Amino acid sequence: MQNNQVAFILAADNSPLRVGPGPDQSRPAADEVVIQVAAVAINPSEWKVGGEVRRFKAGDRVIGHCSGLLYGGAKHGGFQNFTTLREAVTAPIPDAARFEDAVVLPLAISTASVGLFDDLKLRLPSADPVDEQKEKHRDEAVLIWGTASSMGSVAVQLAAAAGYRVITTASAKNHDYVRALTPDDGGGRRHVAVFDYHRPGVAGDIIDDIKARGLTFAGAYDCVGLEESTRTCAEVVHAFGGGVLPSVLWPPRDLPSGVEARVVNAIRPGTVAGLCAEDVGDWGVADAARAGDCRDGAGEDRGGVEFA
Ligand SMILES: NC(=O)c1ccc[n+]([C@@H]2O[C@H](COP(=O)([O-])OP(=O)(O)OC[C@H]3O[C@@H](n4cnc5c(N)ncnc54)[C@H](OP(=O)(O)O)[C@@H]3O)[C@@H](O)[C@H]2O)c1
Repeated sequence: MQNNQVAFILAADNSPLRVGPGPDQSRPAADEVVIQVAAVAINPSEWKVGGEVRRFKAGDRVIGHCSGLLYGGAKHGGFQNFTTLREAVTAPIPDAARFEDAVVLPLAISTASVGLFDDLKLRLPSADPVDEQKEKHRDEAVLIWGTASSMGSVAVQLAAAAGYRVITTASAKNHDYVRALTPDDGGGRRHVAVFDYHRPGVAGDIIDDIKARGLTFAGAYDCVGLEESTRTCAEVVHAFGGGVLPSVLWPPRDLPSGVEARVVNAIRPGTVAGLCAEDVGDWGVADAARAGDCRDGAGEDRGGVEFA
């Protein structure tokens, strides 16, 4: 802690990074956690937790979303030996998970959660497999564009865990992987339909599928953020009467009338933790991450956790 070193970008061209003394991390606020950053080292996280922090104890292995960008100041940045995080955007990781694998999840979880639960106002997910509330949403479809992106793979799991039917897109080579992301409902069914986005007329196919199955359209989330993907999502949203369309990148302006595309701000849970993170259920997936039931990307499986 006394030797906290931080990597700074000093020059306008972003290179080289300079390493020097970092901020004092010995005084977390009541709802903050100081963690030791382990990118390559296998050291357990350690050190201090604020007085109001209940979910962690010193020594826990965790992942967290650093919000130095919007929070202001190096104290909350990631490129240092020690960093300070809001408890709400910190989650334990299973012993089997390596830090360098798990580290891909925080941004994906935050971005997926904000788009689904803050922008689209979907019902929050539950790790409980026997959740009666989930069944109430089984006739509602959510379109998640691009499951093979890191945001998409998390968004699909969160939407499925909230009880929605997930309609999604991926290259054909990833279709089995996408289906495997959502749990069997006990009757051998997975509530996900995956379309190849390379096929011409895919928006029409998705619209027809939702209508043919008599589903209610609950919204779309563009987890790729290309002009082409946003326009295709907008076509679907427009067909079902318009609405908010979150996207991971800035959308084009000339979308069909009634479609309100907006860029998702992944840092929202970290900056307004008292408001939004509570709304998204303490980052939405702390339980799932702890249980080793959160996957990201088409990677290998280690003890129930699959990482890109
Ligand atoms: N707004 C925010 O706060 C925020 C936060 C983080 C990241 N982002 C942005 O989000 C974007 C995605 O990041 P990422 O790291 O998740 O990407 P990624 O993991 O590199 O995603 C790659 C995957 O995207 C899929 N893909 C590419 N074009 C597609 C299309 N037209 N339709 C459907 N799927 C397509 C491909 O799937 P297949 O292999 O199946 O073809 C590919 O495997 C980046 O532009 C990133 O900058 C935004």
